[in-house]
Amino acid sequence: MRVFSGIQPTGRKHLGNYIGAIRQYVESQERAQAAGGDSIFCIVDLHATTVPYDPAELRERVYDTAAILLAAGLDPERCILFRQGDVVEHTELMWLLTAVTAHGDLNRMTQFKDKSAQQRELVSAGLFLYPVLMAADVLAYKATEVPVGEDQRQHLELMRDVAQRFNARFAGDREVLVVPEARIPEVGARIMDLQEPTRKMSTTSGTDEGRVYVLDEAKVVEKKLKRAVTDSEDPPRIVHDRGAKPGVSNLLELLAVARGTSIDEVVASLADARGYGDLKKATADAVVELLTPVRERYGAIRADEDALEDVLAAGAAKARAIAAQTLAEVRALMGVGPNVRARA
Ligand code: AMP
Ligand code: TRP
Repeated sequence: MRVFSGIQPTGRKHLGNYIGAIRQYVESQERAQAAGGDSIFCIVDLHATTVPYDPAELRERVYDTAAILLAAGLDPERCILFRQGDVVEHTELMWLLTAVTAHGDLNRMTQFKDKSAQQRELVSAGLFLYPVLMAADVLAYKATEVPVGEDQRQHLELMRDVAQRFNARFAGDREVLVVPEARIPEVGARIMDLQEPTRKMSTTSGTDEGRVYVLDEAKVVEKKLKRAVTDSEDPPRIVHDRGAKPGVSNLLELLAVARGTSIDEVVASLADARGYGDLKKATADAVVELLTPVRERYGAIRADEDALEDVLAAGAAKARAIAAQTLAEVRALMGVGPNVRARA
């Protein structure tokens, strides 16, 4: 098995990113190692250029994101951690894959529709091609599984289509590009905004009050959870029902994930609760316990930018060795560039 995932170096990473993605990365790293496979994690700076951004800030956010991933438990001795822009093979492969990507499919991507509607000045072509670059990220490594949150499901489907269409068109249906599986957690794949529990917790929409950041101090986490929107059912009922009770359901999911138990178990543990206050308090305690070790490790890791660059450079060298091979195969099959085989 080979695991691959990518994360954008934008904004401050929040509890949705942590639970939907980062926590799974660490688990995948362990699982891949135990199975004799490998795991590869990429900070996707090139994807971050598809919406307006500040170049100097982008570099800083790459360090922030790398430090969070390391603080959360990614270990460069056991996984490959690198920055997308350091491995130029991704961008060339992306272009080649546009040949087997349907324009109509890209037009249907909900993330493209949402993000392009948010742009005031320019809807960049990069935003449109974003999913093709994402496909190149994964397919370059012939990864078998991709841990992501629910919002990436559609991009994963597209990537599978791209791989299949490439194999059919250029490889006589051999699986030259491996068709990857999405790995989406059963609970916690879509953490909702604490103030608007019918919307996902997101870097680009909602307010600070609705988002818990991975690096929030315990007091801040407690305050945000205390003010989380629930509902006015009287008497209050602590049950998991996303449709009818989105706020309560979101808290139950957070609590279950943070405690590492099931939703049924957390509901049972709250059988004697006197209302939503107890649910919020329990969730705050569990989330603080989940995030505190990450925050405590973060400071020292983030402070040493030279060390972070060294980790990313070493990761990029390992990543490039794999991606270059796939790219050479793809170029040869597509008839692009010199005929390497004929000369050999
Ligand atoms: P991004 O910061 O957009 O690169 O997202 C990084 C990862 O976090 C992706 O795998 C997303 O699917 C995941 N993610 C983002 N928001 C949420 C959320 N509200 N709940 C669960 N997972 C999320
Ligand atoms: N699009 C993903 C997101 O917004 C980030 C990403 C880029 C990614 N390349 C990837 C995720 C490859 C998984 C695999 O979260």
